[in-house]
Amino acid sequence: ISRIRTRHLLEAKERGEKWPMLTSYDQYTARLFDEAGIPVLLVGDSAANNVYGYETSLPVTTEELLPLVKAVVRSTQRALVVADLPFGSYEAGPEQALATAVGFMKAGATAVKLEGGQRMVEQIRALTNAGIPVMGHVGFTPQSEHVVGGYRVQGRDTQAQAVVADAHAVYEAGAFSVVLEMVTAPVAEQVTKELPIPTIGIGAGPGTDAQVLVWQDMAGLNQGRKPRFVKRYANVAEVIQQAAQDFADEVKGGTFPAQEHTFDS
Ligand code: KIV
Ligand code: NA
Repeated sequence: ISRIRTRHLLEAKERGEKWPMLTSYDQYTARLFDEAGIPVLLVGDSAANNVYGYETSLPVTTEELLPLVKAVVRSTQRALVVADLPFGSYEAGPEQALATAVGFMKAGATAVKLEGGQRMVEQIRALTNAGIPVMGHVGFTPQSEHVVGGYRVQGRDTQAQAVVADAHAVYEAGAFSVVLEMVTAPVAEQVTKELPIPTIGIGAGPGTDAQVLVWQDMAGLNQGRKPRFVKRYANVAEVIQQAAQDFADEVKGGTFPAQEHTFDS
């Protein structure tokens, strides 16, 4: 089996074929999603919240994300693995971005993702020139939530043209795809029509070429506040909690381990 390449995603767009993307940060989910045919797995900086328990994505570091990228790459055969560049690891300029991205490519990633439109074109160009495919990320960018003023839909009213311009800028700089986060559906649709590269929506309506969700949101492991754009396809939290409760009850009650789990001699 050979891995999905960026050109396959471009070809899917040409055929009008939509595709799913999920985050993954560990062996088991990577394997399951790969076998489910999810073509692109993102080791997101959302590991900050979903793996490391930070309140925001700001604290997570390259050192914390690298082992997760290695685990996901080792555990997949087909998926294209994208590594998210964490806050503070690329903003200073193309050289910093290149040094960080090279580390993730050496860890086995096929591409990297970074946040920002017009303000990131130098970084995107430098990485692309160095042979590193870049997934852009515009609209709401969680790493700059304190400038943006919290989690807010982008692309309303006067902002619409800024989002469109950002998407065009990352394409012109060489990005092979672009995430549109919390963007109004009409703006996402316009960008999707105008750009030859795939758009990947999260909270951007049905008009994008692809859709991404954080897996713990998608599978209902995260029981916290559910944003409007999330759909829970399962209740994994309940399954795991029930299993833990049953185990605890059986240990306390002396019914586990039973004969079948025991070496008699
Ligand atoms: O880190 C992440 O999970 C992301 C996706 C939601 C696009 O950036
Ligand atoms: Na991210």
